[in-house]
Amino acid sequence: MRAKIIGTGYSLPAFRADNDYLATLVDTSDEWISERTGIRARHLAKEETTLSMSAEAARMALERANFRAEDVELLIVATITGDMDTPSTACQVQKEIGAKHALAFDINAACSGFLYSLHVAEAFIESGTYRNALLIGAETLSKIVDWTDRTTCVLFGDGAGAALVTASENGGLLSQSLGSNGEKWDVLFCEGRPNENPLRAKGQKCGYLKMDGQEVFKFAVRTVPQCIEDALAKAGLKPEEIDLFILHQANKRIIQAVAKRLGMAEEEFPMNMDECGNTSAASLPILLAQLDERGRLHPGDRIVLSGFGAGLTWGACVLEW
Ligand code: ACO
Repeated sequence: MRAKIIGTGYSLPAFRADNDYLATLVDTSDEWISERTGIRARHLAKEETTLSMSAEAARMALERANFRAEDVELLIVATITGDMDTPSTACQVQKEIGAKHALAFDINAACSGFLYSLHVAEAFIESGTYRNALLIGAETLSKIVDWTDRTTCVLFGDGAGAALVTASENGGLLSQSLGSNGEKWDVLFCEGRPNENPLRAKGQKCGYLKMDGQEVFKFAVRTVPQCIEDALAKAGLKPEEIDLFILHQANKRIIQAVAKRLGMAEEEFPMNMDECGNTSAASLPILLAQLDERGRLHPGDRIVLSGFGAGLTWGACVLEW
């Protein structure tokens, strides 16, 4: 049995902040942001939370699959921006949507989180432990971004995406290739809240997201094609046999470089970063759900999903829709 996606959903905050709005906060311009990244706007949470967006995306995925929340057996939320340190966002979603029979937990793998959750779900489904899983990627990155740092704050957005996977004999996940390299954790990180207690020094500051953008860029253009090629080889497929390449939406130039390296046309790599920015773990499931909504995904289509991010972490998978 393989894990097959049978329903998708997404949720974006109501407030849309375009590049001109950001130029009122830091010394930047629409021209710089859109030329260097492909991002023109992003949605930022004012009222929404990681939980509320997760629940909305989850409900949409369940509804589109005509599936009851109480029948969900495994519920995983990939996030680095849960609303609480504990309990997990997954347990909160469990209550919110009524998935009362599910085993629920979070995964912290930054922008690769959704792929990691798919990897875990596949293992449980293949082993026969569970027959289905509700996977959510959700982030409120606006709360960990330093809004005085123009090199990072222009890149990120908030949102959530969800996918319901069930055991299937036809299609589904054909192959995967994932990895982590903790040696490079300091290329992209966010310290936790200050640890102030009678045993610790006072005056620690709250951490914000810090990134060596060029190192991440180099890592991405080197590693993403490699893991896609590895996943394709495991599935016995060539790039030209793939209908769509759905990549993590961090930077248009990274996606163009990957397309070139694989010898594929840019049109095969749909993008939504122009409207959503980089939503980390939510990026892949949001784009997947939007493509599903627009009728771009057809039964039998072969699709590559690939992402990379803090950790460092990366991954690719090939699936048949
Ligand atoms: N507006 C205007 N100027 C800016 C801005 C800005 N928002 N940000 C940086 N600049 C300036 C810099 O200060 C620098 O000026 P200088 O030449 O006077 O020193 C100049 O623009 C060039 O800066 P670079 O950092 O060299 O720009 P680069 O072309 O490398 O683009 C970017 C930067 C967009 C961050 C790129 O490196 C990138 O996309 N890297 C990958 C980042 C990424 O994918 N991160 C997500 C990882 S996923 C996750 O886990 C969250």
